[in-house]
Amino acid sequence: MWLRDVELGDLPAYLRMRCDPVMMAELGGPLPADGMAEKVRRDVAGVLTDDHWIKMIVPDGPEPGAVAGTVTLWTHEEPGASYSEIGWMVLPEFQGQGLGKRAVRELLRLARADGRWGVVHAFPATTNAASNGICRSLEFTLRGERRTEFAGCSLLTNHWTVET
Ligand SMILES: CC(C)(COP(=O)(O)OP(=O)(O)OC[C@H]1O[C@@H](n2cnc3c(N)ncnc32)[C@H](O)[C@@H]1OP(=O)(O)O)[C@@H](O)C(=O)NCCC(=O)NCCS
Repeated sequence: MWLRDVELGDLPAYLRMRCDPVMMAELGGPLPADGMAEKVRRDVAGVLTDDHWIKMIVPDGPEPGAVAGTVTLWTHEEPGASYSEIGWMVLPEFQGQGLGKRAVRELLRLARADGRWGVVHAFPATTNAASNGICRSLEFTLRGERRTEFAGCSLLTNHWTVET
C-alpha cells in the first residue's frame, strides 16, 4: 500500500465514497453527486498549496493505479477553536484487510516527520466499529463522546486524539 496526493481524475472514487448510502451510513447519509467535481477541484487546489493533505490509498495488487480509499489531514476551523483532524474511507471491496489502519499509520508517520500538526483529533460515530477499531489499534487516546457536525448532520461521535 502507498499514498499519493488526490488528483482531478479521482472524481469516480469520490462519487463512490461520498455519494453511496452504505459508505456514508455512519456519516449522515450520502452527499449529492452534483457538488462532487467542485469538491475534487477544491481538494486538489488545497493540496497544491499544502493547506491540507488528501491522500489516495493505492493498494499493492494486480490492478496498477487502483484506488482503495482515502486518508486526509486538515486544520479544522470553528469559532474559538482550530485543531488538526484526520479522517479516512476505504471502499467496500478493500475493507477488512488492514488497509485503513496501514494508511492512517502512514499518514501519521508523515505528519510526525512534517512537525506542524501537533495533537491530531478524530471523531468517528460511536456506532462505527471499524473506525473506532482503527483508533484503538493505533493507540489513539479516547477523550469521551461529543456531538460533531458533518455535512449538515449532527452525529454522536467518539473523540480520539493522537500526538504527532
Ligand atoms: C472505517 C473504514 C475506513 C475501515 O477501513 P478498513 O480498511 O476496513 O479497516 P481495517 O481493516 O484497517 O481495520 C482496522 C481495525 O478495525 C478493526 N475492524 C475493522 N472492521 C471492524 C468491524 N466491522 N468491527 C469491529 N472492528 C473492526 C480491525 O480488526 C482492525 O483492528 P486490529 O488491527 O486491532 O485487528 C471503512 O470501513 C470505511 O471506509 N467505512 C465507510 C466510511 C467510514 O465510515 N469512514 C470513516 C468515518 S469516521
